[in-house]
Amino acid sequence: MRTRALSILVAFAAAAATACGQPGGGPDVVNVYSARHYDSDRYVYAAFTEATGIRVNLIEADGDLMIERIRADGARSPADVIVTVDAGRLYRAQAAGLFAQEHYGVIAPGVPEHLRDTDGYWVGFAKRARVIVYSRERADASQIANYADLADPRWAGRVCVRSSSNVYNQSLLAALVERMGEEAAEAWARGVANNLARPPQGGDTDQIRAVAAGECDVALVNHYYLARLANSAEAADRAVAASVGLIFPDQDGEGTHVNISGAGVAANAPNPEAARAFIAFLFTEDAQRAFAELTSEYPVLETVTWSNEPLAALGGFREDEMNVARLGERAETAQRIFDRAGWP
Ligand code: FE2
Repeated sequence: MRTRALSILVAFAAAAATACGQPGGGPDVVNVYSARHYDSDRYVYAAFTEATGIRVNLIEADGDLMIERIRADGARSPADVIVTVDAGRLYRAQAAGLFAQEHYGVIAPGVPEHLRDTDGYWVGFAKRARVIVYSRERADASQIANYADLADPRWAGRVCVRSSSNVYNQSLLAALVERMGEEAAEAWARGVANNLARPPQGGDTDQIRAVAAGECDVALVNHYYLARLANSAEAADRAVAASVGLIFPDQDGEGTHVNISGAGVAANAPNPEAARAFIAFLFTEDAQRAFAELTSEYPVLETVTWSNEPLAALGGFREDEMNVARLGERAETAQRIFDRAGWP
């Protein structure tokens, strides 16, 4: 798989160099706007072209900037497909009117209902879990089983987590609001904010590194950041990964919070047929396997097998089956709670 991935990647890079990222038209091309910058995606796009003859014109941008750009282009937008991470961000794009309504139950059969939008604006093609990592040296794993435990005064001055402006934290808090109501969710956010070892800084990988470096004892991160450190070619990264343990929270309750990487056909897609074919392709066994093997995300199709030792080593878990569409709907409430709770 990896060898084939690499050779296709090289072919794709050559094609991309001539395409220069200029949006094109016609039925032999699909214009894909993506906020993801991963080898897995380049592999999948090249495999799609190989299978269908439809060229992928890839336009990469950062999440919120990409949404703004497509919105500003309005009806003239050449976007056929919009790809981004986190249901919270997909919701923002949806609220900006960027997606067409489609029957993703037909385009992507087998995707669990809770991983696609209830109104048909987008569909999740890969899955991520928000987990707790802890220092194997300084934290007692038997004292952490739930998100709620991070708010326990026992962890005062020992928790690392990134800023509340990050969509991953917003979506987690949105899930907690949906699950237990605003008041309890605010008490939780306040408890975690009180336990911070340092003002939030950096991304999820930085939180894992901070645990390894002794700056904090527990941290809240997306699972794939740990798998990627464990998969790294750098021995120092692998040492960081080895020094921490991972807990899938809330196994005795609602299950671990999961989120998605998702895609949808753009509202003004010049090539809607190609867009649907492209999205359908994200659910082929080959593509689903690529997300697990190259990006350490989980496939959304349960039947797909994959081989990625560090990802497998994280273990299995039970996930919260709350529809991820709820996360975006609760995002504003979550942001207000973060502000009130003093989580910077
Ligand atoms: Fe991420």
